[in-house]
Amino acid sequence: KSLKHYNTFGIDATARYFCEINSLEDLKKALQLKGYPEPFLLSGGSNMLITKDIDALVLYINIKGKEILKEDNSHVYLKVMAGEVWHDMVLWCLAHDFGGLENLSLIPGHTGTAPIQNIGAYGVELKDTFISCEALDMNDQTIKVFSKADCQFDYRDSYFKNEGKGKYVITSVLFKLTKKNHPLNTSYGAIETQLQEWGIKIPTIQDVSKAVVAIRQSKLPDPKELGNSGSFFKNPVLTKTTFADFIAAHPKAKYYKVSENAYKVPAGWLIEQCGFKGKRYGDAGVHKNQALVLVNYGHATGKDIIGLAEKIMNSVFERYRIRITPEVNIIK
Ligand code: EPU
Repeated sequence: KSLKHYNTFGIDATARYFCEINSLEDLKKALQLKGYPEPFLLSGGSNMLITKDIDALVLYINIKGKEILKEDNSHVYLKVMAGEVWHDMVLWCLAHDFGGLENLSLIPGHTGTAPIQNIGAYGVELKDTFISCEALDMNDQTIKVFSKADCQFDYRDSYFKNEGKGKYVITSVLFKLTKKNHPLNTSYGAIETQLQEWGIKIPTIQDVSKAVVAIRQSKLPDPKELGNSGSFFKNPVLTKTTFADFIAAHPKAKYYKVSENAYKVPAGWLIEQCGFKGKRYGDAGVHKNQALVLVNYGHATGKDIIGLAEKIMNSVFERYRIRITPEVNIIK
């Protein structure tokens, strides 16, 4: 089966076997199938770069459902099944006036994979509303509950990218959302500017979501129109001493202080300075509005995209002595 429409990069690779999973029972059955190659988990396909045909039993996780487990005057505990489309779920929350996810509007992908890389944007990360998630242990087929501490969330990182890698299928996520007096996070300059432009003085969570959607649409390509996986690279985090040398040599560089000993430099800025923004090599390219995003103009292969990524990483290293690394999961 062609996976072209199952990965947002639009890479035309095939799966040897493909099975759509609509329930926990489906998942357990599929994992017990005999005579098939190993399972390969596929969800929204929005954070992967496929570089070859997948000689495996692809399990497309499409388990749907939302449930309010409990609520009080001020909060609601919402359990969301893994296959729910992230942005649709965010819009549903906004329609019910549940707050906390508005800054994470329009992020592609499914809810179940959001914890793996602790998705984040515009000053908010998944971990800020996350209570726990349930996951099927692929070894013994039991469901395990992971608390926030168990997940070891960090910038674009979690337990599921490290020790937990390849061992679990996240089946649902539990969020704690606000029902009223929503605390807003408009600290990100672009949100403030957008709200001001619209003349909104006392924004609601719905306004913040609309601002985020407008900003994302102005910078990030829509995967339906131009294949991509969002930020292809992580923003490098430098220690205080490395950062001091860097900024002395490049005083115009953009940066954010993360903590006393950690400074983040936007990879998009580094890549743009190296001259790659908007460049196209065959069908692989660097997006014109955001240099952190690599795009597929139609028929690029995973290898074409990797070739471009390597060229960029080498160029950034030669010029800045900073190693940027992919954020996207590369399927080799
Ligand atoms: N910049 C450039 N040139 C570029 C792109 C960015 O100079 O081509 C500069 C901008 O001017 C700005 C700074 O870099 O000063 C930061 O840019 P932006 O606000 O666009 O954010 P980012 O650091 O490039 C990160 C996330 C995005 C997220 C935004 C907003 C990572 C790897 N990426 O990008 O996440 O939407 O912040 O919070 O952390 C994603 O992960 O797929 C993603 C899109």
